[in-house]
Amino acid sequence: MKFDGAGIAITGSGSATPKAVIHNDDLSQLVETSDEWIRTRTGIANRHLLPEDSSLSELAAEAAKKAIAAAHLHPEEIDLIILATSTPDDLFGSAGKVQQLIDAKNATAFDLTAACSGFVFGLVTAAQYIRTGTFQKIVVIGADVLSRWVDWGDRTTCVLFGDGAGAVVCQSSPQDQLLGFEMYSDGSQNECLNLAYDGHPKYLIHDVSIQKGGYRAITMNGREVYRFAVAKVPEVIEKTLFRAGLTTEDIDWLILHQANQRIIDAVAKRLKLPSEKVIANLQEYGNTSAASIPIALDEAVRAGKIKPGQTVATSGFGAGLSWGSAIFKWGMPH
Ligand code: UT7
Repeated sequence: MKFDGAGIAITGSGSATPKAVIHNDDLSQLVETSDEWIRTRTGIANRHLLPEDSSLSELAAEAAKKAIAAAHLHPEEIDLIILATSTPDDLFGSAGKVQQLIDAKNATAFDLTAACSGFVFGLVTAAQYIRTGTFQKIVVIGADVLSRWVDWGDRTTCVLFGDGAGAVVCQSSPQDQLLGFEMYSDGSQNECLNLAYDGHPKYLIHDVSIQKGGYRAITMNGREVYRFAVAKVPEVIEKTLFRAGLTTEDIDWLILHQANQRIIDAVAKRLKLPSEKVIANLQEYGNTSAASIPIALDEAVRAGKIKPGQTVATSGFGAGLSWGSAIFKWGMPH
C-alpha cells in the first residue's frame, strides 16, 4: 500500500483478566452441559469473569497501562485512546473513563463498536491517524465483559464467553510495520449474532410515543457463524497477504479471534500453517470478544514467543457480521 504519511509500529502490549475463574464442571451445575461437550466442541476449559465490584473501564485501564509501560512511554505522551468494546460501562462510551484512570491527560478518547472484530478494526483505525500524521502515539484497547449480557440459563451461549482486556501501543515510525489489512461487513447476516435493544412503547404526550427499554441477552446462530468464520477468515487473510505481496510462508505467528479451537484449526489447515505457528489461549479464557486477540498477543510477547521483527497475522470476526485481518511486524524497527 502506498501512502505519503508516517509508518506505524506496534511497540508494546498489555492485558488484564479477572481473577475469578469458572471451569466447565462449574457450568454443568448451572445448565445441562458437560466438560466433555464444551472441550470437544469448542476447546474451552475455563473462563475468567469480572467481579461485581469492578468495571470494564478498570480492566481496560489495567491493560492499557501495561502496554504503555511495555512501550517505554508515559501516559501523558499518548495522543489517542481507541477502546474497542461492545460492553461499555456507559453507552455514551467508556474510553473517557479509561483516559482518566490511566492519567493520559493529553489523549482524545473514543469507543469503537465492532464486536469480535473490534480490535482489528481499532488497530486499522489507529493506523489511519498515524499515517496521515494526525496522531503519533495511540493506545488501542480491546475489552469486553460479555458475562453481563449472557443468559446464564442458555447452554448454547453461556459456556462460550469470558471477560478480559488487551491493549497495544501504536506509534509513528519511519518504517511501516503494518504490512496489510482488510475489513468487511455483511449486515444481511446481522441476525446471526445479536445483543439487541429491547424497547417497549411508552406514551409521552399528544400522539408521541417513544421506546423505553434495555438489552436482551446475547443470541447466536452458532452453526451459521461457524460456517461464516471458516469460509471468510482464511479468505480475508489470503487477500491481505496477496495485497501485501506476501505468502503464508512469511507468517511467523497466526492469532485469530479466540472463538472456537475447531475454527482456529480449520483456518490454519486451510492456510497450511503448522500448529506451532498458531497462538491459542481460549482454553483458559473462552471467547473474550474484542479482547481475545490482544490478550493472546500480549501473552505470546511476554512469553518470548513473538520476537521483534516477526510477522504476525491476525483476524477478527463476529457480530455485524464483520470480519477483518491485519498483518504486521511486531515491535519498533531498528
Ligand atoms: O465471537 C463471535 C464468533 N462466534 C463464533 O465464531 C462461534 C461459532 N460457532 C461455534 O463455535 C459453534 O457453532 C458452537 C460451539 C457455538 C456450537 O457447536 P456446534 O458443533 O455447532 O453445535 P450445535 O449448535 O450444532 O449443537 C449440537 C448439539 C445440539 O443438540 P441437538 O440439536 O443435536 O440435539 C445442541 O442443543 O449440541 C447441543 N448443545 C449442547 N450440549 C451440551 C448446544 N450447546 C450445548 C452445551 N452442552 N453447552
